[in-house]
Amino acid sequence: MQKRLYCGQINSSHIGNEICLYGWVHSRRDHGGVIFVDLRDREGVVQIVFQPEDKELFSKAEKLRSEYVIKICGIVRRRPEGTENTKIPTGEVEILCKDLEIINTSKVLPFEVTEYAEVSEELRLKYRYLDIRRQEMLNMLKLRSSLMAVIRNFFVNEGFIEVETPFLTKSTPEGARDFLVPSRLNPGTFYALPQSPQLFKQILMIAGVDKYFQIVRCFRDEDLRADRQPEFTQIDYELSFVTEDDVMSITESLLSKIFEYISGGSLKIQFYRISYQQAISRYGTDKPDLRYGFEINNVTDVFINTEFKVFRNIISNHGEVNVIVVPQGEFFTRQMIDKYIEFAKSCGGEGLAWMKYDGEKFESNIVKFFSEKELNNLSQRLNLKGGEILFFSAGEHKKSCELLGLVRQKVAKELNLIKKDEYKFVWVVDFPLFEFSEEENRLVSVHHPFTSPKQEDLQLLDENPSEVRSRAYDIVLNGIELGGGSIRIHDPNLQRKIFRILNLDEQEINDRFGFLLEALSYGAPPHGGIALGFDRLLAIITNSESIRDVIAFPKTQKGFCLLTGAPSEVNKRQLDELKIKLNFDE
Ligand code: AMO
Repeated sequence: MQKRLYCGQINSSHIGNEICLYGWVHSRRDHGGVIFVDLRDREGVVQIVFQPEDKELFSKAEKLRSEYVIKICGIVRRRPEGTENTKIPTGEVEILCKDLEIINTSKVLPFEVTEYAEVSEELRLKYRYLDIRRQEMLNMLKLRSSLMAVIRNFFVNEGFIEVETPFLTKSTPEGARDFLVPSRLNPGTFYALPQSPQLFKQILMIAGVDKYFQIVRCFRDEDLRADRQPEFTQIDYELSFVTEDDVMSITESLLSKIFEYISGGSLKIQFYRISYQQAISRYGTDKPDLRYGFEINNVTDVFINTEFKVFRNIISNHGEVNVIVVPQGEFFTRQMIDKYIEFAKSCGGEGLAWMKYDGEKFESNIVKFFSEKELNNLSQRLNLKGGEILFFSAGEHKKSCELLGLVRQKVAKELNLIKKDEYKFVWVVDFPLFEFSEEENRLVSVHHPFTSPKQEDLQLLDENPSEVRSRAYDIVLNGIELGGGSIRIHDPNLQRKIFRILNLDEQEINDRFGFLLEALSYGAPPHGGIALGFDRLLAIITNSESIRDVIAFPKTQKGFCLLTGAPSEVNKRQLDELKIKLNFDE
């Protein structure tokens, strides 16, 4: 097959050549007896000229409408002086048409492929094939494809083996619900679509694969948000005989390669590291955004003997007083401050105390409760210069920090302090192994149950499991969790013990994870790995509001595919074959 020329690739090197192109009519303009057609394909547009001398050709061109599919043949020539279009790569040239074939017509489109901004997302998703005709969407798919190639090359060069793992499988707990697939051959039984390839990649380590990777689809039935889809893609990898530092180091090399590729080599990224406890104390979240400052300060000591009852009561109940110092105090009117207080309440906080400082004195409704000494200590402790506003949250450590963390994010957004094209990576380490779930009234894994506890905390497993730290690490980019991983448990006895602490009974352990425990008992090497969210990475790189913008055929917030109408009902015969009866009464 001859290599096809694309519209967007025609340039002055083709001048004088007779060429043929396929494409869609992007626009048609009639100018004083000459017809201009912008012909578009995936690489861009080029101008085609129809002159009136060839009457038959000209009258055919008059029939052209937007989005007709055509083939043209003609001579490439330089555009007359003064008519060049410097805005497009083909703007120096045009094609004088000699032959036109109308291959297919098109109905009037529900939206123009050029006027993107005014189109609702619903319409774009319903007619995704038209949406993808827009250059911006096509470029995104091209970037997605080339980044996949960069990633694949990286792993192959590093000696990883790409292995595909099953989609029809057993539940892999990652904290979401499973999508279930009924088995026709074994009525009453179900496959689960994998929430991740976690157990298979561990089993591949037991199998001796040593370094595995996969760019893989995962499925999770959970409430959807801008950064969550029911099916999404992970860059998943696992290595044997490694420590946390090894996995982090290979991840840093991979991310450096990706950012080198997207910036043409100009961007050098850095990786910070922070413990989970520090992340909570300083940023009020385990996904800190380091693109802006005003970290949280614990000022409990300043108010230890305060007369202000609210603070005093909280401190005497082992609570803390935390504060963030926002530099542009003048921005905050009383009305705005009230909105912040409302915001804090809507986040579950009791309220939000505040003070402005003008360089000499504090101002707010609570200043009168503090002594001169307390206020002086506060200003010294926080190194205040004047012009700041302080937001305080008093309460139990984590709750108080989390509230200020949310206020910190809101302030940064509203004061426009977040620069685009800035990438701040931070590793969060030393997570607790378990957390208490009020909903389930039991301990649950902070990551997943296969995460190894820290060696030095092993003795706490029996007495005080909540205090045990894990060998897990998350990589956070600009306040978004990009990936998470850990060193795994490779000892079947320890793995069984963890299942028991998670309140699984022996029957459940054997039914759900018997195959893993069995595999771990045949010479399992120590191993660890991580998975990065590929869609999230792309969304950050392309400054997209939602990961829906970087997925060719995404689902809506309610999990619908507007293009195909999935999920949809199935007919009775299909249900009967599966021995499934629907019961809407319960
Ligand atoms: P985890 O559950 O942290 O780890 O997932 C890894 C990364 O996958 C992305 N991600 C999602 N992206 C879009 N939509 C979703 N619904 C969604 N859920 C997760 C995130 C997340 O950081 N098996 C472990 C990894 C390991 O331990 O090696 C796992 O899946 O970017």
